[in-house]
Amino acid sequence: MSRPESHSRPAPPSAWSTWVDQSCRVVEASGQWRRPRTFDAMGPSGLLDGGPGVAGHDPSSVTSFASNDYLGLSSHPGVVAAAHRALDRWGSGAGASRLVTGSRPVHRELEAELASWKRCEQAVLFPTGFAANLSVLSVFGAQGAHVFSDELNHASIIDGCRMARAGVTVYRHGDLGQLDGALDAASGRPIIVSDTVFSMDGDEADLGGLIDVAARHQALLVLDEAHAVLGPELPGPSRIRGVDVLRVGTLSKTLGALGGFVAGPSRFVELLVNLARPYIFTTAPTPADAAAALAALGVVRSDEGAALRSRLAEQVARVAAVVGRVGHCSPIIPVIIGEETDAVSASTDLLSQGLWVPAIRPPTVPRGTSRLRITLSSIHTDEQVDRLLRGLVELELELRSGPGSAAGPAGPPVTGVQPDRRGVAP
Ligand SMILES: Cc1ncc(COP(=O)(O)O)c(C=O)c1O
Repeated sequence: MSRPESHSRPAPPSAWSTWVDQSCRVVEASGQWRRPRTFDAMGPSGLLDGGPGVAGHDPSSVTSFASNDYLGLSSHPGVVAAAHRALDRWGSGAGASRLVTGSRPVHRELEAELASWKRCEQAVLFPTGFAANLSVLSVFGAQGAHVFSDELNHASIIDGCRMARAGVTVYRHGDLGQLDGALDAASGRPIIVSDTVFSMDGDEADLGGLIDVAARHQALLVLDEAHAVLGPELPGPSRIRGVDVLRVGTLSKTLGALGGFVAGPSRFVELLVNLARPYIFTTAPTPADAAAALAALGVVRSDEGAALRSRLAEQVARVAAVVGRVGHCSPIIPVIIGEETDAVSASTDLLSQGLWVPAIRPPTVPRGTSRLRITLSSIHTDEQVDRLLRGLVELELELRSGPGSAAGPAGPPVTGVQPDRRGVAP
């Protein structure tokens, strides 16, 4: 017979709940516990939950300088209408993997347009840009290959390198001399992988230099162009000076939807379709996302797109002049502050003025380089950018802009697994 008091005693925590609790406490103790805020908005302005940086406040009206919607196409009427039409015609979900249920016509149409845009023979869609990088590095980084990766590459490239059976060497940010030396010393089919615009610093890779190095070593060149709305632009199609190039992109930033893609020579792309697990074993992008991206690409390739890019470039130049960034044109503008607490308090101050500019701090960036990360969109108004500039000046920071992420003094290239960099830490 069971004793009644045994029912009232709380059950001891399971081994798993103890582990989870300890893991949560580790993140909390590091001051990096995060939860997403709710931003009720279409475009850069809207209501942010919790008020200006204080929990419990009513939602307050803010202007975001945090999004990668660089041309504002996620709220473009033609893009939104295309998504509506796709929903009406094909429904909400794609149902399964394309190898199982087939493609919707819009998937094929978008791939053809992406290939033409990137001047490549063929393109293939993935559910996200993250999945596209995992796919490229796991398929081409098979046994017998060796991957050379810039130390500031995106987390999806780092994780792709972890999935690769190939050896991996991480070279110092932008150091093509070190890359060249490491290629000399290594064996195996070489792959060089680099962001073309680095996501936390907004600086650009030297594409001509990368092609030279790749040509010297007959390396496959994988370029992640996720943030390359204002360039840099590749000097040729998918085979440049004898170098095979795979161009990885996303539908989720400039194209205002959700999904990723890889463009390149046909046989390379077909190999991905046949071997890439994040293509084969996952559901295809929704027809509405594909249709939105297709309509957005139409805008990007039109006169309207050119006008949006030149408007964005003007706003970038205005902000870059104030924060002292020279030599880079991307819409990602970091303001290096240094200490984590100073970066967070600068971000909170701006939020109290209705300006949402996230603070980025370790482990996303190295200690001592915590920063504000400003991203601009062509649909920010002059008045919004004026307010941002006034807010930055009032912070009385010693304004200086990246690249400031390179981890410590020059060291040798590192072979093996790269440490984790978690996402944007507000
Ligand atoms: C350089 C880079 N590559 C890939 C990705 C992943 O793209 P997606 O958001 O489509 O998964 C990101 C996203 O932030 C990125 O910054």
